[in-house]
Amino acid sequence: MKYIFLIILFCTYFLSPTPEATNYAFEQYSVSEVLTKLGDKSIKFPPQYQLKNVSVENGKRLFHTGFSTKPSGKRTKKQSKHFVCTSCHNVEREDPDMSVVDPQARLEYAQEKGIPFLQGTTMYGAVNRENFYNGDYYKKYGDLVLKARKNIYEAIQLCAVECAQGRKLKQWELESILAYLWTLELQFDDLILSEEEKDFIETAMKEDLEKDSAIAIIKSKYIKGAPATFIPPPKDRKKGEAYAGDPQNGKLVYDLSCKHCHENERYSFFALDDSKLSFRHLKKHLPTYSRYSMYQVTRWGTSPLPGKGSYMPHYTKEKMSEQQLQDLRAYVLQQAE
Ligand code: HEC
Ligand code: HEC
Repeated sequence: MKYIFLIILFCTYFLSPTPEATNYAFEQYSVSEVLTKLGDKSIKFPPQYQLKNVSVENGKRLFHTGFSTKPSGKRTKKQSKHFVCTSCHNVEREDPDMSVVDPQARLEYAQEKGIPFLQGTTMYGAVNRENFYNGDYYKKYGDLVLKARKNIYEAIQLCAVECAQGRKLKQWELESILAYLWTLELQFDDLILSEEEKDFIETAMKEDLEKDSAIAIIKSKYIKGAPATFIPPPKDRKKGEAYAGDPQNGKLVYDLSCKHCHENERYSFFALDDSKLSFRHLKKHLPTYSRYSMYQVTRWGTSPLPGKGSYMPHYTKEKMSEQQLQDLRAYVLQQAE
């Protein structure tokens, strides 16, 4: 008996393969650093830390609380009376595979990571993107998006004023937010690369070979702009979609999205919680065309309340699928019973 035990111990100790240490030199750098080393020119907006009062700390506070510290040492005016950037944007990675746009995969990932599921795209990896306010956002903001499409400064400023309904950012505030966003740039851990692809990138770096292909491989692993498609709610608001909804999945949408802003009126003047009252209110107005209809607000949003600036941003197809809206409906109807 003793010997068998010793043999097993021996085998597990000496014969099991030691996990291969992945020692790719390039992985010590960020994605943008490797791209730049390979000769890629897409990094157009590096952080400007040297400018007066620009700091990651100021940018982070502005982003999360709406305040930061002026050059004089005093606190700034709040950027928006109503919102903070995190009302609508995560700062964590929110997709299991960064090269795919899949709202259901994102919803499950958000649940696993304990982060909300929101209308705006995460700021994680924003500095790695090459296009902003894509697709149908032109329909909402018109020519304003043209300047912002290729320029992250303009994208931040547009969002501060239009999305957050707040004041314009001063140059040092804008630079500070950008400096903060640079702390959220993509790392190689975030990308799904095979061993062959890693070997290829390693060789390209070391031997100066096939650098364009290496750049193309890296860039195929994440989206360079978040697509946006505006879609209407179901044609028949009484019946919803022809297919069934999954209330359990609808609960995820409700908890990770609606409650993020509506629980205890956190970022709105309208409260939603787990009470029958909330669900009955949603159910009652669901089939209508009023601003109390969940269908109306999820797909068309609301316009800013006069004097308050609070409004509900709509969900594009990429931020809430038709199935997910049907699931939310199923959950609301179930809970209203
Ligand atoms: C009320 C919701 C809301 C608030 C508040 C908000 N945003 Fe946005 N933001 C959006 C939406 C919706 C978009 C549309 C494009 C997207 O994110 O996919 C967007 C887009 C952006 C983009 C372009 C992202 C891209 O990949 O297209 C940036 C950058 C940005 N916001 C920064 C900010 C900053 C900085 C703040 C705070 C000052 C802020 N946002 C506040 C909703 C919001
Ligand atoms: C980014 C924050 C945010 C998210 C997420 C959000 N809402 Fe809203 N919602 C608002 C704001 C702000 C208003 C505007 C009125 C206000 O301030 O009360 C609003 C308005 C509404 C209204 C109309 C109420 C009224 O008084 O006019 C309904 C209904 C509603 N939301 C339902 C939902 C549902 C259902 C979800 C989830 C699918 C959701 N909201 C997700 C911020 C949000």
